Amino acid sequence: MDRAALQERFGIVGSSQALMQVLDRVRQVARTDITVLVEGESGVGKELIAHAVHELSPRKHGPFIIVNCGAIPEGLIESELFGAEKGAYTGATERRTGYFEGADKGTIFLDEIGEMPLAAQVRLLRVLESGQFSRVGSNQTRTTDARIIAATNKDLGREVQAGRFREDLYYRLSTVRISLPPLRERKEDILPLFESFVFQSAQKYNSSRRTLDASARDLVRRYAWPGNVRELRNVAEQTVVLLRGESVSAADLQPFLRGVTAGTGTELMPIARTGEADETRERELIYRALLELRHEMRDVKEEMSKLVELIRGGFAARPSIEPNTLAGSNFVVVRKPEEDEEDYASYIEDVIYEIENGDEGEDEADDSALPDFMTNTQALPTLEDAEHELITRALKQFEGNRRQAAKALGISERTLYRKLKEIDEEL
Ligand SMILES: Nc1ncnc2c1ncn2[C@@H]1O[C@H](COP(=O)(O)OP(=O)(O)OP(=O)(O)O)[C@@H](O)[C@H]1O
Ligand SMILES: [Mg+2]
Repeated sequence: MDRAALQERFGIVGSSQALMQVLDRVRQVARTDITVLVEGESGVGKELIAHAVHELSPRKHGPFIIVNCGAIPEGLIESELFGAEKGAYTGATERRTGYFEGADKGTIFLDEIGEMPLAAQVRLLRVLESGQFSRVGSNQTRTTDARIIAATNKDLGREVQAGRFREDLYYRLSTVRISLPPLRERKEDILPLFESFVFQSAQKYNSSRRTLDASARDLVRRYAWPGNVRELRNVAEQTVVLLRGESVSAADLQPFLRGVTAGTGTELMPIARTGEADETRERELIYRALLELRHEMRDVKEEMSKLVELIRGGFAARPSIEPNTLAGSNFVVVRKPEEDEEDYASYIEDVIYEIENGDEGEDEADDSALPDFMTNTQALPTLEDAEHELITRALKQFEGNRRQAAKALGISERTLYRKLKEIDEEL
């Protein structure tokens, strides 16, 4: 598959020299089983690249498992990755299969590898060297045929110097490094990316295209994009949903860019300003909040559909892995994440539509288009309080038995444990 076909297939936009080199690397390493380290700031596309490597590899029919090493509590990471025997640690009531076993014949993507605790690093090194590991609490040697792709937004070399990362592991991991430069270092990619995301959003929201005028083009090229492609995607989507008119100027864009307001410099949300545009600003803020909510929901939805696939694939059906645990620890199998809309998202879409169209001709901001729970804050307890209350009740009902309480609440014991800890910290 040539570069263009690869870009087309994975929706990878851009033509910078740096990106071309990355894509060439992807094509070279995909055929092999070589360990790859993907480096780059947050939002540059590390996961996209890792996914492409898997999909282009002979392992493409096997699982692609993403483990966010930064999201798993330190004390659990070894058993999550390598599995654990019953009774291996307090609370290990059942035998647990680890992600490495699940990734057999596929690819395991160890995201935020720099967050991995030292003890787990030792086990990982062993897997890298020999393909061997053992479950926590067992000395039976097992083997796994999982291809490892790791990613980091930290400078691992510096982590080694600081004593937080093993040097031998660092060398093992960095046989092949793919570095994704931040957007500000490949400015030629900015406009094509922007246009592509605007095009996608216009289709998704059934809206007309937006074109950046010369001042806006200049601004997006000068802007530093601290959140890289992810931030750019969000801004492009916001211009489609929030702005009217085909042409977008620098002044239109400014409110969406961090630290680029006409006034004092670092204002993120220009709502505090008084005067002419207060109501428009306020509405803008509500839109933005809804959009963010929508993004979050989309992420949740993606995670959930991946999980469904995982379950269909028969992996989660094994008794030692509970769906909740999987979702909670960012453990997912990505074959083809579905992008279709779910109920909640389209509900929010409806709300956005109502806000956009329901108040035509009125000059007062009208919140009747907002769902009740958003305007009537008195009517309901906060989610946190309600959760707290439910957990307390469940524990009481099962006389403090956490396993039964968790089961009744439909969450994993680990989630319950985490929530109890959160409640503890609040008090
Ligand atoms: N070149 C690109 N073309 C199109 N979309 C891209 C490109 N690079 C990144 N994206 C998109 O930008 C978003 C962020 O990318 P991704 O999640 O891969 O970044 P990341 O480096 O893993 O970020 P983080 O460090 O925050 O996890 C995703 O929606 C991804 O599809
Ligand atoms: Mg990522």
